[in-house]
Amino acid sequence: MDALECIANRYSYRHTFKDVPVPREDLEKILIAGLQAPSGCNKQTTEFIAVDDPAILDQLRKVNSMPAVQTAPVLIFCLIDRQPSPASAGRAYQVEDAAAAVQNMLLSVTALGYASIWVQGGLSVDGKAEAVAAILGVPSQKLVFIMLPVGVPQEQEVRAEKLPLAARVSYNGYKK
Ligand SMILES: Cc1cc2nc3c(=O)[nH]c(=O)nc-3n(C[C@H](O)[C@H](O)[C@H](O)COP(=O)(O)O)c2cc1C
Repeated sequence: MDALECIANRYSYRHTFKDVPVPREDLEKILIAGLQAPSGCNKQTTEFIAVDDPAILDQLRKVNSMPAVQTAPVLIFCLIDRQPSPASAGRAYQVEDAAAAVQNMLLSVTALGYASIWVQGGLSVDGKAEAVAAILGVPSQKLVFIMLPVGVPQEQEVRAEKLPLAARVSYNGYKK
């Protein structure tokens, strides 16, 4: 699958995963894709925790009832600083850095035949990020920002519709 096919084929998968492991070899490819993402001033601010230990997964599953989270053989967490140092000119880019890393990982997930979903809203409420942090021993200055359940999809997901090019794109000026 080339890069453009990966982009076209990526989708958010919320259903059950097959009871099939993600080998460490594949997991490492996905994580390396995250490390290779661009970052503001190359500060590489995002940190990652990959969980494939069934006992730890069991504890983590209590924080989110989504079938994908309940059945994923792997959960990847992206961590950022709660109070980041500026990368340049007083600006920190850690949110953008994490987004770039996550998108790289989602495309790698697709390329390797797995599925995933960017879970951020569902992690940021009701003390869920803090519950994950406590289970994983994450220090208080770090925020557990995004979670990616990864596995082999069992079901067909309805693809989200995208607006047509003309609705969001114009050439040589706004809405020309
Ligand atoms: C910043 C961000 C946060 C998201 N948080 C969640 C979430 O908490 N739960 C969820 O089910 N989907 C979440 N998503 C996935 C979006 O709902 C999904 O990308 C969107 O519906 C488009 O579908 P697609 O990914 O299949 O193209 C998030 C996506 C982004 C970019």
